[in-house]
Amino acid sequence: MICHNITACGGRLRFAGRDAGELARKYGTPLYLMDERRLRQNCRVYRESMAAGFGRALPLYASKALACKRIYEIAAEEGLGADVVSAGEIALAKSAAFPMEKVFFHGSAKTDAEIGYAMDCGVGYFIIDSLEELEAVDRLAGERGVRQRALLRLTPGIDPHTFEAVATGKVDSKFGMSIETGQAMDFTLAALAAPHVDLRGFHAHVGSQVFDSAVFYDTADIMLRFIADVKARTGYEAEMLNLGGGYGVRYTGEDPTVDIAGEIASVAAHIRALCGELGLREPMVLLEPGRSIVADAGMTLYTVQGVKTIPGYRRYVAIDGGMTDNPRYALYRSAYTVLAAEHLDQESDGVYTVAGRCCESGDMIQEEVPLPPLKRGDILAVCTTGAYNHTMASNYNAVPRPPIVMLDGERDYLAVRRETIEDILRREV
Ligand SMILES: Cc1ncc(COP(=O)(O)O)c(C=O)c1O
Repeated sequence: MICHNITACGGRLRFAGRDAGELARKYGTPLYLMDERRLRQNCRVYRESMAAGFGRALPLYASKALACKRIYEIAAEEGLGADVVSAGEIALAKSAAFPMEKVFFHGSAKTDAEIGYAMDCGVGYFIIDSLEELEAVDRLAGERGVRQRALLRLTPGIDPHTFEAVATGKVDSKFGMSIETGQAMDFTLAALAAPHVDLRGFHAHVGSQVFDSAVFYDTADIMLRFIADVKARTGYEAEMLNLGGGYGVRYTGEDPTVDIAGEIASVAAHIRALCGELGLREPMVLLEPGRSIVADAGMTLYTVQGVKTIPGYRRYVAIDGGMTDNPRYALYRSAYTVLAAEHLDQESDGVYTVAGRCCESGDMIQEEVPLPPLKRGDILAVCTTGAYNHTMASNYNAVPRPPIVMLDGERDYLAVRRETIEDILRREV
């Protein structure tokens, strides 16, 4: 199996030690499951290996991967900070009593209202994306009589060899300011001159689902050389370096396993050596893992509604969810492992296209999936759905969104309840 929290017992799928079919019947489907122990373990790998490698370090949970009150509580208990991108994520973090001084506020189009809200909530750091935003942060901090701590988001000009829509560190990017074009230096000079901005360092995030270690070494190189250039030009030496998120996870048996602790140890050694060479103090290092914290702690369960065979073409299995709870295949053709939760011991009788319930031909979860003979009422499990599923879910076709059930040993409990038809009607005037 792709992760050790997925096992089989007498042909039945167990996730986090629990029978998936029984959970589907208890809570209904579609159903998001989260393995709390795996989630905590993933947090600890970052916290411990970053402390060991970098000394001064803080992992920031990139909450865009999965934002709900319970996840912020767990991240806080595990000693992580958080990366947020909207007033909504700030409000969720606040509802979990997340320590606001450890919150870093991202986004390439923050409104004045959001900037003000974040300041009033005591958000620790802004990651400023543009000159216009810098002016707005300076002005709004001035109005409040504070100096806002901030990092500047830069693009190091690196292609992380991942899917185009999640490659963010190239020169041609809607995020940040480019080092290569000279704009990053002008941005830094402007930030140093802004009276109500307390510049603490720099940020870069080059992409997501990255397996190539060279990407992180190259990013660290370019960023440290930039820090050295700024020091030579202005005397200012950044105290924080945020290298973003992006480590890849295993969606299928074909994906490699990333040894995150090992990767962090080698990036740390690389940074130490380069700081020595460039005559820099070692900065406090921040990483922003999202997917690699929550993805393999998640699984989605669906109920089969029917099977349709088109002779000479293909066979569809229709499920009671789809792009409304997981749009990633429709968006990126993302690979997933799909299992028949109560028939793991049966041979496959050929491949299926797992089709969602929406009025959209592209609404699929996966194609060419080998599965045993299926019928209405069978339970299908889609693995590794903890990241970018709940947070990217929609109400397309006015379909209510699934609940999140947390699994912790023998205990199972609701973190987010199922959306109802009343919820769907609530905003109508
Ligand atoms: C700025 C930033 N940081 C962190 C992340 C998290 O990346 P991942 O979930 O791949 O770790 C993202 C994802 O898009 C991001 O844009």
